[in-house]
Amino acid sequence: MAYPVHRLRRLRKNENIRRLVRENSVSVDDLIYPIFIEEGENIKKEIPSMPGIHRWSLDRINEELDEVSKLGIPAVLLFGIPAHKDQVGSETWNEEGIIQRAIRHIKKNYPELYVITDVCFCEYTEHGHCGVLHGHDVANEPTLENTRKQVVSHAQAGADMVAPSGMMDGVVKTIREALDEAGYTDIPIMAYSAKYASSYYGPFRDAADSAPAFGDRRTYQMDPANRREALREVSFDIEEGADIVMVKPALAYLDIISDIKNEFKLPVAAYNVSGEYSMVKAAGKLGWIDENKVMMETVLSMKRAGADIIITYHAKEIAKILKGLQ
Ligand code: PBG
Ligand code: ZN
Repeated sequence: MAYPVHRLRRLRKNENIRRLVRENSVSVDDLIYPIFIEEGENIKKEIPSMPGIHRWSLDRINEELDEVSKLGIPAVLLFGIPAHKDQVGSETWNEEGIIQRAIRHIKKNYPELYVITDVCFCEYTEHGHCGVLHGHDVANEPTLENTRKQVVSHAQAGADMVAPSGMMDGVVKTIREALDEAGYTDIPIMAYSAKYASSYYGPFRDAADSAPAFGDRRTYQMDPANRREALREVSFDIEEGADIVMVKPALAYLDIISDIKNEFKLPVAAYNVSGEYSMVKAAGKLGWIDENKVMMETVLSMKRAGADIIITYHAKEIAKILKGLQ
């Protein structure tokens, strides 16, 4: 009888040895929790396609922030839903806008939380596109001009980091210049560098009321078929001054996370997007999968692929599991 030379099962014998040889893990330290803040009062509105995720008004946001803070989640990513939209999204640079007020509220009442703002226009424009329209397409430079105003107003309100998600060319350079000129040389930029034109964003567009009124985002977001192009996007963002680069969505794009991790030396974030969240929730609700186990395995796969940071709607649930509370 020929015995196998390599017995990999030796190191899988019991949980202790498996723990010792385990290569990757998920920690609460890795997590960023997205929050939707809507202008108005007494709002706690569940997103139908995202069970457990709500739109909050500022007067009730502490219910959410108390929990996030208690669980030790280090950072939140803010999305604003304004009462008034217009053609260019001018509410994005209003000092009294929903996001600016939210930043001030959080930094005052939860100084332990790191506040990151999504920098885009689609929740703030009537047409739902991510910038200024010329005809039926988003005009790059006019959008950059407005982005300058938006990031400076976020910084003035006290944001710790800004995250441009509109996929305009040159946006990182524009933001770095605008922040530096205004004296905010220490505010980092987390660039949504490899952001794909994905159908996985469907539930988010309900949550943030940001679906395009016509057309789609394929003239600015990346083609899901492209892999090498992601490395170009990332290398330009690094040249322009990005501190962290992001891949979005995450689960269907683990190869991209891995490529970027292997090629570059800066931290990589993965955005576990709304559609990924909704699929796990839906199958869990039907009893077709073990929801918590699939959730943990999913975020672990992102770490294994090379993500240092995971932006996820599951952040609170993951933190509870890691703390043995769920
Ligand atoms: C807006 C933005 C989107 C997401 C984050 N910022 C949607 C989009 O590009 O249409 C998606 C987040 C998610 O699906 O969870 N630029
Ligand atoms: Zn947008």
